[in-house]
Amino acid sequence: MKRIHFEEIDSTNDYAKKHLDDLMEGFVIDASFQTKGRGRLDHVWKSEKNQNILASFVLKPSVNQSILHQLTQVIAKAIVEVLLSYEVKAQIKWPNDIYVDHRKIAGVLIETIFDKDKRKGVVVGIGLNVFQHAGVNNAICLDECVKVNDDLDLILYKLYQSIFKNYHQWLNGEYTQILEYCNQHAYLKDKSIEYDNKILKVGKLNQEGYIQVINEDLTEQYILINEFSLHAEK
Ligand code: BTN
Repeated sequence: MKRIHFEEIDSTNDYAKKHLDDLMEGFVIDASFQTKGRGRLDHVWKSEKNQNILASFVLKPSVNQSILHQLTQVIAKAIVEVLLSYEVKAQIKWPNDIYVDHRKIAGVLIETIFDKDKRKGVVVGIGLNVFQHAGVNNAICLDECVKVNDDLDLILYKLYQSIFKNYHQWLNGEYTQILEYCNQHAYLKDKSIEYDNKILKVGKLNQEGYIQVINEDLTEQYILINEFSLHAEK
């Protein structure tokens, strides 16, 4: 594992973005503590020192930009599989969260870096709650689900292996299987959601990154995965 570890840093994603030219694909930047950890939509990602996985993976896939969105599912599957190796059944809450028991155990922040029109690479930032109990904002940690005997280094290594296994399967054209897995582990599937002032039922995610939703009159509609924020009824 090509790893650069920091005891403290502003944000591992920011570091990876800043040094992207010098970082080969496969590098992982991780930290014990972040002073400016970021989540999606400009949210702050807070994590106590040495409690959780805070890591950014450097990828430089030479795939067409039109399918790059699929990487979100590739990473989600990789995280779900790691959790399953601890006998924890997790679900993917689109677009970028991993849930256990209706609570968030991990978040993913994928950032694509361009130089003019040329894509330089992708930074996949993952915050995985491991030991930090009593989480705020509806969070849960792995140690709350099962007694965790592995240390953070080992969990990071398992995550690394899972990510690159799935990533190479994706590069080898196996997205159909990955998508099928993600649909089987989808948190929102068959749930009712509120979108655009309407109550819709969530169906499957398709290859193009759209989620099928069913209107009350049973007509269907497709919503781009990154374009909605959902409030699922429990
Ligand atoms: C989210 O749920 O909104 C995504 C959270 C992503 C957090 C991780 S922690 C490691 C990496 N560095 C950051 O600043 N953010 C990501």
